[in-house]
Amino acid sequence: MATKGRFITIEGVEGVGKTTNIEFIESLFAQHKINYIKTREPGGTPLAESMRELLLQNREERFDSTAELLLMFAARSQHLNEKILPALEQGQWVLCDRFTDATYAYQGGGRQLSKQTIAELEALVQGELRPDMTLILDLPVEIGLERAAKRSEKDRFENEQVAFFERVRNAYLERAEANPERYAVINAEVSLAEVQAQIAEVFEQRLLP
Ligand code: TMP
Repeated sequence: MATKGRFITIEGVEGVGKTTNIEFIESLFAQHKINYIKTREPGGTPLAESMRELLLQNREERFDSTAELLLMFAARSQHLNEKILPALEQGQWVLCDRFTDATYAYQGGGRQLSKQTIAELEALVQGELRPDMTLILDLPVEIGLERAAKRSEKDRFENEQVAFFERVRNAYLERAEANPERYAVINAEVSLAEVQAQIAEVFEQRLLP
């Protein structure tokens, strides 16, 4: 799959400040006159957003973890083929709030599903396509959860236990450690200005050239 635009994803456990920092990245794109689209997972197209609702709704019936995994990839396939790939092929950059690293972190780390299975689904849905750069906003889990708790009603994932999110965080950090060229781990425990200075540095040194 030949692509021209750059594919940038943002990841992190709940409450790390993804929304605010995505806005900051958009301001960097605007300054540099980068033509881009902003999107998110699960979701990003009307059909994939319907799948997102199914995934996030609290419900009485237990959501089987494999069903959850498959629905994440079903939404991803729709989003990738209908929105992400066409944008990249037209030379647009794609700024995506979460992507397959979230599956490795939440379904692999959190739910403890097999990484091998996730890798097989990744190959099926994405072929060789991977983000060009993934920013992981990193924060101790308790601090993130405290911040997230101040927001509106909790969704099905936000209702998980601290140990679940510890596994999610560790899975993100392990992936970054194993492949430092594709990831930038941003320390999100410092002031917003300091977080943004780190992001601006990654942008200038690793994305612009
Ligand atoms: P959001 O809160 O960042 O919008 O993401 C929705 C939730 O979906 C979040 O709790 C993480 C979860 N998620 C997964 O479990 N696996 C995935 O592959 C993706 C993209 C998100």
